[in-house]
Amino acid sequence: MNTQLIYLNGDYLPLNEAKVSVLDRGFIFGDGVYEVIPVYAGKPLRFEHHMQRLQNSLNAIRIENPLAINEWSEIFNKLISDTDSNYSTMQDQSIYLHITRGVAQRDHSFPQSTQATVFVMNNILHPVNPELLKTGVAAVTLDDIRWKYCDIKAIALLPNILLRQQAVDAGATEAILIRDGKMTEGAASNVFIVSDGIIKTPPKNKNLLPGITRDLVVEIAMENNMPIEEVTITEKEFLNAEEIWLTSSTKEILPVTTINQQSVNTGKPGPVWQDMHQKYQNYKERLRQN
Ligand code: PDD
Repeated sequence: MNTQLIYLNGDYLPLNEAKVSVLDRGFIFGDGVYEVIPVYAGKPLRFEHHMQRLQNSLNAIRIENPLAINEWSEIFNKLISDTDSNYSTMQDQSIYLHITRGVAQRDHSFPQSTQATVFVMNNILHPVNPELLKTGVAAVTLDDIRWKYCDIKAIALLPNILLRQQAVDAGATEAILIRDGKMTEGAASNVFIVSDGIIKTPPKNKNLLPGITRDLVVEIAMENNMPIEEVTITEKEFLNAEEIWLTSSTKEILPVTTINQQSVNTGKPGPVWQDMHQKYQNYKERLRQN
């Protein structure tokens, strides 16, 4: 039986005993923010970066951070090393943390002195299917119908859900979004291309989430003198790219080999991806050994 513990508002509880009020503003309005943090051999990847992005999201929606950094760390460590769960502490995991404005009578404006709801769970992080790394995945381009604050990691994800489902309905893995003729990101991932031998990804701005994996990939490229630019990518340049990659905490770096049912270049994961993928695996391995 799965006796997995989760954290809810100061308590550690079995998942099936954790309950939130129907008046929670997360439930009523989607009024909250979240983080997803991969954990390798018990070690969260880029903990400080995730905590900084959480703080930025909280600031943007005017919720005070309910916990200090050491308290977050303590919760993560307790869940990661929960020996009652049905998987080993050393298995790759992902932490999902979720903060809402709390429970209040339904009213759009902020409630006075309401305590934030804090929920944290961890799950097994299954390695990306090795077959997909050989073949790559399909993606489709769709109009970016989201709002103007896509840099906030908001729990209100209806546009992202509808876009992803549209991609799935078209037999694809991800929707890659186009706003005003420019590629922004995926429904739940950042996007890189290789164009004229240069790795490119859009600069961070309000049209995309500042992905932690994205930043790590940029950093790895720079450290290894791989040509990289953070530049605007037009739809035209995107559709003619030599390589397309998706990045996220759960997908790592996934090669896209079909876009809108057309092959990307040879239709196989490209050499620059191979190189970056290996370097990313090495980075994870160093974290595991550390
Ligand atoms: N999503 N852009 C969007 C819209 C995302 O939802 C995500 C991640 C990313 C990549 O960010 P990071 O590298 O920090 O994971 C970009 C997570 C994984 C999710 O919603 O499950």
